[in-house]
Formats: sequence, C-alpha cells, structure tokens
Amino acid sequence: MSKVAELLGCGYPIIQGAMGNICNPELVAAVSEADGFGLLATAFVSEPEMVRTQIHETKKLTRKPFGANLQVMSQHTPKIAEILAEEGIRVVTVSGGSPKALIPFLHERAITVLVVVPTVSVAVKAEALGADAIIAEGSESGGIQGFNGVSTMVLVPAVVDAVKVPVIAAGGIGDSRGYKAALDLGASGVQIGTRFIATLECIAHLNYKNTLLEYEDTGTCLVNVGPFQIRALRTPLAAKMVNEGETPEFSFGGNSIDASWIQGDLDAGILPAGEVTGLIHDIPSVKEVIEEMVK
Ligand SMILES: Cc1cc2nc3c(=O)[nH]c(=O)nc-3n(C[C@H](O)[C@H](O)[C@H](O)COP(=O)(O)O)c2cc1C
Repeated sequence: MSKVAELLGCGYPIIQGAMGNICNPELVAAVSEADGFGLLATAFVSEPEMVRTQIHETKKLTRKPFGANLQVMSQHTPKIAEILAEEGIRVVTVSGGSPKALIPFLHERAITVLVVVPTVSVAVKAEALGADAIIAEGSESGGIQGFNGVSTMVLVPAVVDAVKVPVIAAGGIGDSRGYKAALDLGASGVQIGTRFIATLECIAHLNYKNTLLEYEDTGTCLVNVGPFQIRALRTPLAAKMVNEGETPEFSFGGNSIDASWIQGDLDAGILPAGEVTGLIHDIPSVKEVIEEMVK
C-alpha cells in the first residue's frame, strides 16, 4: 500500500481536492467509496455549523474515511477546526496561508495535516512547522493561485527533493497518464479537482460541466481578484475581466458561487477550473474516473 493511502486510510492515494460548495456530500462519499479520499470544503460556508451538517450527510453515504479542507483566509476557520475535531475528522488539508496556528491545534487532536503549497520555499516552511505531508499544487490547477506560480512538472520533483515527508501532486491531473506521471515525478499520491467537477455525482450545474467539456487546452485564464488570482474557465465574463482589468464585486465569492457554479448562470460569476479542462471530454461516474486512473 502506498504511504499516502496508509496515512489517509484509503485504498488509492487519490485525494479529491476541496472545491467550495461543489464538494457536495454525494461527491465526497463517492470518492471515498471508490477507494480514493473525499474532502469536504469549508472555505465558503456562511456559517460554521453548515460544516457539521455536511459531515453528517456524508457519513450517511459512506462509512469509509473522508477529510476536510481548512482555508486559512476564512474568518470561520478556528471554529470550523473545532467542529472537525468534534466530528472525528482524522485528516485535514490546510491551504491559502500559513498553517502555523492550525498545525499544533490539529496535532493535539490527533488529526493528520496535509499542507497545500505553491513553491519549494513554502513547502520547506510547512515541513518545519510539522506538516505530515505536502500537497504540491502547480499553477495549472483550478482555483486560487498566487502570483509566482510554478507548473506541476517542475514543482513536484523540486519539492520531493526538498522535503522528507510524502509529497502529493496537484494540478493538471485528469487521467491515468497524469496519475502515473505524478508518481514518476516522485509524488506519493495525487490531489485532483477539475476532473471531479465533470462527474455524475458532483452538484455543479450542467452549464459548468458542459463548459469544461467544450473548452480546450487554452480554455482557462488567470483572473486577478485582488490579493490573489483565480484560474477559471475563459467564459465571456472571465475574458471581460481579464481584458478590462476590472473585477466586479459580484464575480467571485458570496452569492455568485451558488448562482454560477450550482444554478448555472454563467454571467453571475467565474467558474474555477484547471488547464486539464483540455483533457475532459465526458461526464462519467467518480468510480469510472478512479478506475481508469489506476488501471
Ligand atoms: C472550483 C474549485 C474550487 C476550489 N476550492 C478550493 C478550496 O476551497 N480549497 C483548496 O485548498 N483548494 C481549492 N481548489 C483547488 C483544488 O482543491 C485542487 O487542488 C485543484 O483543483 C487541483 O488542480 P486541478 O484542478 O488541475 O485538478 C479549488 C479548485 C476548483 C476547481
């Protein structure tokens, strides 16, 4: 068994990345049921207790282990960390900032901590702070990006050389070729986001999924939303924001997430996705995605 699968308590070292409100319990449970590792996202909840409800709903659908993501930037993170511990979550990924305050809190509660990093220097710091594993996320990945991105192909082996803890590759992995390539780069597992949006179990609206199917390798862009950027599908709204250099308030976060990601109004907000959109041509079940990957 791979050391990451052992750490997570699952069959394959395949983590379903946190993805805001579209990490619905059905998706998370389907990933864990298929012997991967499902993750609930907590970054965009308007109220911490919503996370407890999501955990309960996921537990109704699977008895296999699943975890959760904590976004350092969210004001609710300290309270959500307490809820995760109370609910018996054993593995947490930390992203979006320094894990310094969270690692001791989580370790005291016997929770394994995986830290998401965009560069080698941040990986080294996270290991020094006690991270149990590093998720090296390349700049081709969907979602939040810094301004000094490094591609997965370079980042993963560089992080593998720089730290002793297991490294999990994220960004650009969509099928068995990407999975094997990540392991060849020295990763002990993978974290996958975008590919899992285009699955039957994901709650994302069909307009979101169909756009993923339609857009090819150049179908994403980096939208500047102030302190960070978002890699998103190059929809007319995202293209306008890039061209005009302006970020309308409504376009990311808050109500725009439900309206665009789940209700399918593509003028209501941008749709985060990675460059791997160029490899996605169907909407299979989660089980089919994972079985193809490990075949
Ligand atoms: C719609 C969407 C939302 C995301 N939200 C989060 C999040 O809340 N927390 C986080 O750590 N990563 C988030 N990510 C990143 C994913 O967890 C994952 O690391 C990334 O998608 C991997 O790259 P890929 O999209 O090329 O598979 C998000 C990605 C997407 C596409």
